[in-house]
Amino acid sequence: MRRLALIGNWKMYTTPSSARFLAEDILNRLNGVKEADIVVCPPSTSLVSVADIVNGSDIVLGAQNVHWEREGAFTGEISIDALVEIGCRYVIVGHSERRHIFGESDEVVAKRLRRALESGLKGILCVGEKEDERQRGETEKVISRQMDTALEGLKRTELIVAYEPVWAIGTGRRAEIRDVEAVHRFIRKRLSERFGKDASGNPVIYGGSVMPDDMAELAACEEVDGALVGGASLSAESFASIVTRAIERRIA
Ligand code: PGA
Repeated sequence: MRRLALIGNWKMYTTPSSARFLAEDILNRLNGVKEADIVVCPPSTSLVSVADIVNGSDIVLGAQNVHWEREGAFTGEISIDALVEIGCRYVIVGHSERRHIFGESDEVVAKRLRRALESGLKGILCVGEKEDERQRGETEKVISRQMDTALEGLKRTELIVAYEPVWAIGTGRRAEIRDVEAVHRFIRKRLSERFGKDASGNPVIYGGSVMPDDMAELAACEEVDGALVGGASLSAESFASIVTRAIERRIA
């Protein structure tokens, strides 16, 4: 069975001091939990303060962005060497807020992913359709395009795919479990077409308005290997509850 991954995406919330406080609270609740990969992704300005708290523990650090060049004149961007030095082990790419608010193309997402993977970080590739695309029946077409560009030329790799329907992010409208299941099955099929049987170890996780009460139902679905959690990861109590419920359900 694939390992569970529960990932907190803190987006542009927290300052270095409040992030430290949140990380300490999460660590107190979840350190010692070995049944899942537990990852927190603070904003870049809080990475160092969170690293001080979690590095060496069972909570793993992830970043929300990385540039594809090692260094250079790229104002506002984040270098891989900085992330590695801080102790990041994961990086999110292709989040819908990057794609749709900041206009990142599939090609830019692919370059960021490649750099992360080449440097030994695990990539969390977000894919997902907008509401009008779902209504037009284009969900699989959109996800195929996003995945094909991001994975072009890659060998089997340390990759998590997060299915995040854009209309479910931050809206309180979680996708129906049967739709999640169908899309996850489709993503897994695309992964195996590309990587063969090696892809069987790549987790496919769901994101979009995940709350503690949703987690048991999600984790009970064989196709769901965890969650990418935004809002509910900003409270240590609810994030810990999501982690615990996912594990309990998987073990049951
Ligand atoms: P949400 O965000 O849980 O607040 O909907 C999920 C995400 O954007 O990764």
